[in-house]
Amino acid sequence: MSEQPEQAFLNDLSLSLAEGWKLLGRGSKDRKSPLHTPCVGTISPTGLPRQRIMVLREARKDDRLLRFHTDNRAGKTDDIAEDAPISVLGYHPGAKIQLRLSGTARIETDSAAADKAWSETSLFGKRCYLAEPGPGAATDKPISGLASDLEGRKPNEEEVLPGRPNFAVLLAEIEQIEWLYLAHTGHRRALFSWDATATEWTGQWLVP
Ligand SMILES: Cc1cc2nc3c(=O)[nH]c(=O)nc-3n(C[C@H](O)[C@H](O)[C@H](O)COP(=O)(O)O)c2cc1C
Repeated sequence: MSEQPEQAFLNDLSLSLAEGWKLLGRGSKDRKSPLHTPCVGTISPTGLPRQRIMVLREARKDDRLLRFHTDNRAGKTDDIAEDAPISVLGYHPGAKIQLRLSGTARIETDSAAADKAWSETSLFGKRCYLAEPGPGAATDKPISGLASDLEGRKPNEEEVLPGRPNFAVLLAEIEQIEWLYLAHTGHRRALFSWDATATEWTGQWLVP
């Protein structure tokens, strides 16, 4: 990044917010971006915080939505009832920006969004959803869960079909973004909250 854009957003709340969404958008498309694999936090049914790395598939600024993919049998889906709290954390060392997002999450398996996401997933990606038993099941020996003839090779369209019922999209609607920029000239920190009545973000500088 050049010095100029850094200087521009350092002292401007709306530019800082725009920079945050830009980084998330790039992170969802660029496998090499550190924001491609943020840490996603949920709360278990017994109240324990649980975090895990997930691939960020899409970041939509306009409707404040982050999309992830997961197995509908994975533990995290137990944490996510309708409107469950979720947090997403990422740090981009190149941009020197930490993004701490929070909002509400939902899991969709049979929706148009899930169908579209499945259709855009590669055959190797779809193979992940063929594990039997499902993710997190106890096993007495170290296994991938895949049938041995599927390990180490690309499956065909027909072979991945049984994975579709296990495939889910995790959609996080973001309501708060905490933005932290580290600079030797002086850190910057800002909190952005979604105002649902005014349908706009409100920003507030914080002491870093
Ligand atoms: C680089 C990386 C990317 C990952 N991407 C995903 C992902 O996109 N979706 C997912 O469900 N799990 C992903 N995982 C695995 C999760 O971190 C986690 O181990 C697994 O989903 C089980 O979590 P749970 O028991 O909380 O459901 C990824 C792990 C790593 C290391």
